Amino acid sequence: MGFEDFFHLKLDPFSNVPDPRFFFSSYEHKLAIVKILYTIDKMRGLSLLVGDVGTGKTTVSRKLLLTINKNPNFKAGLIVLTNNHFKLSWFLDRVAKFLNIDDDYDNYEEIKGAIISKLISYYKSNKKVVLIIDEANNLKERDDIIEEIRGFLNYELGNRKLMTFVLIGTKEILPYVRRNESFYQRIAMKLQLKPLSLTSTKEYIKYRLKIAGADVNIFTDDALNIIHEASNGIPRLINIICDNALLDAALQKKLPIDGNMIKDISKLYSIESEI
Ligand SMILES: Nc1ncnc2c1ncn2[C@@H]1O[C@H](COP(=O)(O)OP(=O)(O)O)[C@@H](O)[C@H]1O
Ligand SMILES: [Mg+2]
Repeated sequence: MGFEDFFHLKLDPFSNVPDPRFFFSSYEHKLAIVKILYTIDKMRGLSLLVGDVGTGKTTVSRKLLLTINKNPNFKAGLIVLTNNHFKLSWFLDRVAKFLNIDDDYDNYEEIKGAIISKLISYYKSNKKVVLIIDEANNLKERDDIIEEIRGFLNYELGNRKLMTFVLIGTKEILPYVRRNESFYQRIAMKLQLKPLSLTSTKEYIKYRLKIAGADVNIFTDDALNIIHEASNGIPRLINIICDNALLDAALQKKLPIDGNMIKDISKLYSIESEI
C-alpha cells in the first residue's frame, strides 16, 4: 500500500532515483556546480569533485550534463565507471563513441589518433568538449587510465585544452590521483561535496514535498531537526527516512509527523547500519 492517496500526491516525493524534476539547488550542490562550470568554461582541463556516498554526486553529474548540453558551444558526455576491471580499449571506445567516431580501430594508437583529430575538428568549430566521469573512484589501481587522461590533457590549442574532464567520485580516488604527480598537478579545481546543512536539509525536504504536490508542512520543525541529525545531511538517507515517515503517518493516519515518529523510524529501520 502506498501513501500517495493519503497525502494527495502527484509524484513520489522521496524516491532514491536521480529524477531531474526533483533537483534541488541547495547551497552545497549549487556551489559545486558553479565552480565546475567555471573550470569548464575556461577549459582548464581537469576538475575533481569528491564526496561521501549519497551526498548527491551522481545527481550533480546529471545536472552538469543537462546544463552544459543546453549551450550550443559545448559538447558534453558522461561515462560511469561501475567497476575498476574495465579494459583500456573499453574506455577509449567510450570516449570515441562520445565524440561520434564510428569506425573500428585495430590498436590503441589508431583510436587515440582518431580521438585527437576529432577533438581538433571540434576546436575548429568552436565547440568545447567536456567529459564527465562518474564513480571515478573506480580509477583506483588504474594508473593506465589515469595516464591516458593525462595524455589527452597534453593537447592544447589557442591556450585551452582540447578536452576537459570532470572526475566525480568518493575520496577513495585521492591516493591514486596523487601518486601520478603530473596528473595531480593538472587538477585545476578540487572540490568536496559536503552534506546538507540543517537549513539546506529543511529546504530540501520542503522542496521535494512541494514538487510532489504535498503540504510542505507535513513535518514539524522538530521532526526536520531530527531527520537532519539522523541522516547527517546525506540526501540519500534523508530520502529513506522521509519515505518511511510518510508511510507510517499514512498507516497511522497521524499528522503532522513529529520528532518522536522520526526517532522511532531511525531506530526501527536502523538506517545507519543499512547504508
Ligand atoms: N540536489 C539534489 N536534489 C534532489 N535530490 C538529490 C540531490 N542530491 C541528492 N539527491 C537525492 O539523493 C539520492 C542520492 O544521490 P546521488 O547523486 O545518487 O549520490 P551519490 O552519487 O553521491 O552517491 C539521489 O537519488 C537523489 O534522490
Ligand atoms: Mg553516485
